[in-house]
Amino acid sequence: MLVEKELFAVTGNAGYAARQDARESNARTYARRLRMAIAHAKGVRVTDADGKTYLDCLAAAGTLALGHNHPAVKAALIQALEQEVPFQTLDIATPLKDEFTNEIFATLPPEFAARARIQFCGPSGSDAIEAALKLVKTATQKQNVIAFSGGYHGMSQSAMGLMGNLGPKHGMAGTAQNAQFMPFPYSYRCPFGVGGEASSRMSAHYLRSLLSDVEGGVLPAGVVTELVQGEGGVIPAPNDWARAVREITRERGVPLIVDEIQTGGGRTGAFYAFEHSGIVPDVLALSKAIGGGLPMAVIIYDKDLDVWQPGAHAGTFRGNTLAMAAGVATLRTIREQNLVANAEAMGKRLESHLLSLQKDCPLIGNVRGRGLMMGAEIVDPDGKLDSLGHPPADGVMSRRIQQACLKRGLIIEMGGRHGAVARFLPPLIINADEIDAVASIFADACMESMKQAA
Ligand SMILES: Cc1ncc(COP(=O)(O)O)c(C=O)c1O
Repeated sequence: MLVEKELFAVTGNAGYAARQDARESNARTYARRLRMAIAHAKGVRVTDADGKTYLDCLAAAGTLALGHNHPAVKAALIQALEQEVPFQTLDIATPLKDEFTNEIFATLPPEFAARARIQFCGPSGSDAIEAALKLVKTATQKQNVIAFSGGYHGMSQSAMGLMGNLGPKHGMAGTAQNAQFMPFPYSYRCPFGVGGEASSRMSAHYLRSLLSDVEGGVLPAGVVTELVQGEGGVIPAPNDWARAVREITRERGVPLIVDEIQTGGGRTGAFYAFEHSGIVPDVLALSKAIGGGLPMAVIIYDKDLDVWQPGAHAGTFRGNTLAMAAGVATLRTIREQNLVANAEAMGKRLESHLLSLQKDCPLIGNVRGRGLMMGAEIVDPDGKLDSLGHPPADGVMSRRIQQACLKRGLIIEMGGRHGAVARFLPPLIINADEIDAVASIFADACMESMKQAA
């Protein structure tokens, strides 16, 4: 450890990283692997304190739908500042809040919008999940919630109680949520040992039988799921599975909470991931993209659930007017520039690059995703095959690939079990040349990492 005088003498990325190590919490995450200070950011590129430029396929964990410093977002913020709008209003109305509500309601399927209520939450995705849980528990007067293995819903105690990942729960005596975990249809590592379509059929059947079984326990207050698991390793749920879950929960009168905190806003090639299957949730949790890069979170839900009492979910930062201005600009730009279609097309382009890399590179065990939420599961081709004939996940190799990407000017993050899934979450404005550059850097990084390991 450097002494204080030396610590402040170090310049550039190394200095920022060393000072961060010395002063920030042991709980820090991305900063441990991305040892840089981001000094400038524009579009899909960021530049670090040493002047090196990177393609940014992390984009603040999928938050920056329009990339960094998009002109429409900047103009909206400058205009709001010049008009001296209030920065914070709790939940008091403002013209910008009204405009934001109009914009967000316009993104919903009409049958949902017609019955919808919106709750502005504290500004994190986790707070939207907290609100969703309180809403359904109040409406049903039940306690338990069904969640899915591999799901990620945030780091507040109740949200964390819904996630399978044990890492962040380590060292804590329990979380606040009574969650029952059901198997998610992760076909490549099928929890039922069958894979393919049968995986999703069995998962849906399991849920149906649990909710219908007269000895299956008490009905839950809700079922909560992502439709493409993000942090869990970029695992898209098949449309049939989503439809089956919707049917079962509707039949049993159990509210379905769809967490679109990461998928919402066009990322998966539909404005909402639930549109791929044609279902409509009872509760929709949104954050990330909808604030245009500024903190913002809401839940939108069926009015029949709106039985919680005044003050049931308060919070100081529910009225973040600048985030609403940035959000309005973002939602409009996504619509006007048809960025949902771009996400679909660019996602397909990236997927086909990754699939052709898989033919040459045995480290790529599985390529999957939807739209601009793509993943490549890194495996150890020499490891012991599982019962489905797939090699084991290789988190050590994935970290090596991540560092090799960084060296070549590409930021990606690793997620999923053992951190073995390379995740691509670029801004929705990314173009074909940039996708090709991302894929080419990733391919070089994989090949180099494979050679080094040989
Ligand atoms: C699907 C999903 N839900 C909830 C969250 C939690 O959001 P936040 O980190 O803003 O609390 C995230 C964050 O990545 C997420 O991806």
